Amino acid sequence: MGELVISNVDKIYRPRRKAPVHAVQSLSLTVKPGEITALLGSSGCGKTSTLRMIAGFEDVSHGTISLDGRDIHTLAPSARGVAMAFEAYSLYPPLTIAENMAFALKAAKLSTAESDAKVKAMAEMLEISDILNKYPTSVSGGQQQRAGLGRALVRKAGLYLLDEPMGQLEPQLRAILRGRIKHYLREHKCTTILVTHDQTEANALADRIAVMEGGILQQYATPAELKLRPANLFTGTFIGEPPMNVFNAGVRTDGKTVSFAIDGGVTLDYPANELSAPVSNLLSKQQRVAIGIRPHALHLGKGPIKGKVVSCQWLGDQTHVAVEVAGRTIVSVAQERVSQKTGSDIELNVAAGDLHLFDAASGGALAHGGDLA
Ligand SMILES: Nc1ncnc2c1ncn2[C@@H]1O[C@H](COP(=O)(O)OP(=O)(O)OP(=O)(O)O)[C@@H](O)[C@H]1O
Ligand SMILES: [Mg+2]
Repeated sequence: MGELVISNVDKIYRPRRKAPVHAVQSLSLTVKPGEITALLGSSGCGKTSTLRMIAGFEDVSHGTISLDGRDIHTLAPSARGVAMAFEAYSLYPPLTIAENMAFALKAAKLSTAESDAKVKAMAEMLEISDILNKYPTSVSGGQQQRAGLGRALVRKAGLYLLDEPMGQLEPQLRAILRGRIKHYLREHKCTTILVTHDQTEANALADRIAVMEGGILQQYATPAELKLRPANLFTGTFIGEPPMNVFNAGVRTDGKTVSFAIDGGVTLDYPANELSAPVSNLLSKQQRVAIGIRPHALHLGKGPIKGKVVSCQWLGDQTHVAVEVAGRTIVSVAQERVSQKTGSDIELNVAAGDLHLFDAASGGALAHGGDLA
């Protein structure tokens, strides 16, 4: 149930004042029935504004929103068939946690027995069974947040909007609930938008991730696509931990060899046939590029990138080695345990197939792993 189509939506706060805030710009996004989409981005990028427009707590300044083929952006919130769990707690203080969670079920005229059973099962799933008879002011922030999430999830709705639903919880509990919530959303075929800051959460829960920055959608793709084929330098460096290393470089090619002259004196040479013909052709016209190299693709051992070890940390399952190269620090991740003394000389290499190339001016992707973007 529930296909959501957002078309060309803008949100401008205080449009007639001196300094209007353009919080969301020309946003177009489709969430398929039963799909879980994560809205991922830094603070202030427009995530909550987007959810509030879908739920009807904010007007759209421009554009349309439809659910199951029905335009909903002009309807009252209660007529949209959308359930939302809010970022800030929004429980009714005079009602117990159980009464809060059952609120919409009562309005939907479910029998007391049915409603009680749903609330009980939801409370068990969210580990809040012990506080059902308490009032919101006498439970913790994390408990209130889970009650708000439970209140949204027990409802029958065409669309579920979850705004940072686990932001207040400790990592262990988050990890447990993540699995349960995903199972629940799948089992009930819930079309869902989940807002989060947390890449791990987005990767674990979502079918597709919409990356936003400055009110603008940067890329909407599966977790794997975002990693392997970032659409631009922003997504490339935003997705992935530790972040992608980026070098600015001039490109030269004589048909046999492609040379990247990195600012600061390092040169990477590759036989042109290690890149696809269209990429070599494209690079022959390109003067400057930004080269992105994931830390996992930057290997220690004989190679053209020469530097000094800044730090070397074994994390129990991988080693992070920070290296100063041409006046800046880059990071290499090795799967095995590596010991390197701070200050020692080190060489690194990267395969042509692991390069991400971006336009130096626009940041748009040119090529990934030897093929065109
Ligand atoms: N009611 C409002 N009036 C004016 N500006 C607003 C209002 N609400 C949000 N904004 C501004 O709009 C932009 C987007 O805010 P929004 O709350 O959507 O961000 P967010 O991505 O949810 O951030 P966070 O991760 O911090 O929750 C921000 O610059 C914010 O200051
Ligand atoms: Mg927010």
